[in-house]
Amino acid sequence: MKFLILQGSPRKNGNTMQCLQPFCETLKNAGHEVDLVWLYDKKIAGCRACRFCQEDWSKFTCTIQDDAVFLADQIMSSDCIILATPIYSWYCTPPMKALLDRMVYGMNMYYGERKGPSLWAGKKMAIVTTCGYRPEKGADLFEEGIRRYCRHSQLQYMGMLAERHLGYQSAFMDETKAAHARAFALKLCKV
Ligand SMILES: Cc1cc2nc3c(=O)[nH]c(=O)nc-3n(C[C@H](O)[C@H](O)[C@H](O)COP(=O)(O)O)c2cc1C
Repeated sequence: MKFLILQGSPRKNGNTMQCLQPFCETLKNAGHEVDLVWLYDKKIAGCRACRFCQEDWSKFTCTIQDDAVFLADQIMSSDCIILATPIYSWYCTPPMKALLDRMVYGMNMYYGERKGPSLWAGKKMAIVTTCGYRPEKGADLFEEGIRRYCRHSQLQYMGMLAERHLGYQSAFMDETKAAHARAFALKLCKV
């Protein structure tokens, strides 16, 4: 399988990346292809709801010619999209939210005069996240949002790996978290 990791943290050596290291290593060791994109390095403007994307049902189109257009190509050529993000104000970080908005219109032909297809139907989507609260209180709303996003877009929601950050004064990563990340990667490889 081809995994595309959309990395929404601004911190290149941050907690989310530390969870992704054993996760990616496990996917690669199992023979899968893994691409990682740092969303804070990309230009991704917000959707303007002009609905130009609804005119051509054959591909992703957009009046805003920024990095979201290349990311749409990468998404189309992947099998499983990993949303990797720290939780900010109970959701993902701003560049990931902007990308999710661009894709929910650009990929789903639901908003024109007639209802058309979802261009990315059947692809898998999963979450790797870290948050300050216990995941049940920190990542629950984001997970529910993505569950609905997947149902709406005809994607297969594959689950979430969520780890808690206890504060900047303590080391984040430990063997238990690494084991969770490896187990989650193996779960995604099996399906
Ligand atoms: C601006 C900001 C907003 C945050 N909002 C939340 C939040 O709503 N809920 C939560 O549990 N943690 C929140 N956190 C904590 C981060 O999710 C946590 O520190 C995370 O592990 C950071 O990941 P990173 O090192 O990959 O960037 C917030 C952190 C920042 C900087």
